[in-house]
Amino acid sequence: MKINAISLAVLCLTWHASAFPQLLQRQSSQTSIAPSQTTLTPTQTAELSNIGQGAVKALSQTPVATPGFNAALQRIDVSGVHAWRAPGPNDQRGPCPGLNALANHGYLPRNGVGSILDFITATNTVYGMGLDLSVILAAYGAVFDGALPLGWSIGGGVHTGIGGSHGHYETDNSPMRADLNQYGSNTRLVLGQFQEFFDLQPDAATANYDIDVLSQFRGIRFNESIAKNPYFYYGPFAGTTVSQAAFSFIYRFMANHTEANPAGILNQDVLKSFFAVSGDDGDFTWNPGHERIPDNWYRRAIGDEYTLDGLGSDTTTFASRTPRINTPGCNTGTVNSFVAIDTSYADYDFSTPTQGVCFALAEVLSVAEMLPVVGIVVDLLVLPVQNALDCRTVPARNDSVKDVCPGYSFYGGPTGMVAPGAGQD
Ligand SMILES: *[C@@H]1O[C@H](CO)[C@@H](O)[C@H](O)[C@H]1NC(C)=O
Ligand SMILES: *[C@@H]1O[C@H](CO)[C@@H](O)[C@H](O)[C@H]1NC(C)=O
Ligand SMILES: *[C@@H]1O[C@H](CO)[C@@H](O)[C@H](O)[C@H]1NC(C)=O
Repeated sequence: MKINAISLAVLCLTWHASAFPQLLQRQSSQTSIAPSQTTLTPTQTAELSNIGQGAVKALSQTPVATPGFNAALQRIDVSGVHAWRAPGPNDQRGPCPGLNALANHGYLPRNGVGSILDFITATNTVYGMGLDLSVILAAYGAVFDGALPLGWSIGGGVHTGIGGSHGHYETDNSPMRADLNQYGSNTRLVLGQFQEFFDLQPDAATANYDIDVLSQFRGIRFNESIAKNPYFYYGPFAGTTVSQAAFSFIYRFMANHTEANPAGILNQDVLKSFFAVSGDDGDFTWNPGHERIPDNWYRRAIGDEYTLDGLGSDTTTFASRTPRINTPGCNTGTVNSFVAIDTSYADYDFSTPTQGVCFALAEVLSVAEMLPVVGIVVDLLVLPVQNALDCRTVPARNDSVKDVCPGYSFYGGPTGMVAPGAGQD
């Protein structure tokens, strides 16, 4: 239960319930679960069971070759109860911009603490995350989140919530956020990183931060962590799997979809809005916790949800340019000392998110039986997905990795020590 970090990742990723938007809307209007609940009612059980079946279906969903466009269904309401409001002093916000934006618009509880069902529903209906991804991410978070039986915080403290899940869920090498032991924070947006990404598409008229641009940035950031973070730790699942999603989600979930561009365009203004950055090129300001869904913004097409399969395809694109992202590894205490870790990991295929997820689900199952409520969630959500995946035998957890990788031991966050020799520019 110290694996709270996982829940965050789950949230950030969510899933696609592409084929079941109505199902989820019905759920969100009729059923809710309190994060602090310790048992489920029959209605809640039925709801989660439906979602588990939806996740299994999403796993075999055929990717949409030409997504359509339906303005009425894809336009996201940012008025009334979903109007943007800055978080109050007691509202939690964390490292995931997409989740922060959901909370600022009341699609997640505005206090930043949601249930598994809240996360699944919000990520599916607002961003078009496939149910397979969302279920995996939510279940992982719930099981490893130490604070609440059926939910977690998008902020959090040491060992709780996304911010406190460093190394398990939230991880080094984020596109925009600081590496924990490079800056002493895993939640702070580093404007230098944002500017570097922004500059890859400098022409405001044509800018589109798509998967190809993210693939360039993936390589830049991977090398940057190696060159500047002596404690860079890139573990199985959080590194090899979740980290790819932190990049791909930017385009897949933030792009504006239109009739003319049904695959989506992510331009400079929309990018800045989702990352809470204001000001002009070269003179940006980060406004913590102010992530915002733009007015007149259209999500992915209904039926074209972003699934585990989509993440697999984007991971392949990233790895074709930066092959090292497929292998767990770390810096050994100084910059530019990156080594692969654990020979048993070398024999496991982390290059597909499916096998990464199998690894994560095995971890979930190894602790779940100790937690009664979570056991129910496992039965309703995790086991159906695991059974539907072609999981191979996963390598055992290897804690002697800490002897090689100092960063392995710094599970926690959202603040931490700065490693000697860390570069901060
Ligand atoms: C990252 O470093 C590797 C190994 O030194 C190099 O081959 C690659 O070109 C670098 N990528 C970028 C984007 O700088
Ligand atoms: C999204 O695209 C539509 C159609 O081109 C446009 O009217 C709208 O302003 C765009 N939204 C944003 C936030 O850029
Ligand atoms: C565990 O990881 C360490 C560090 O990478 C490695 O030396 C060791 O062989 C691994 N143990 C097993 C059983 O694979």
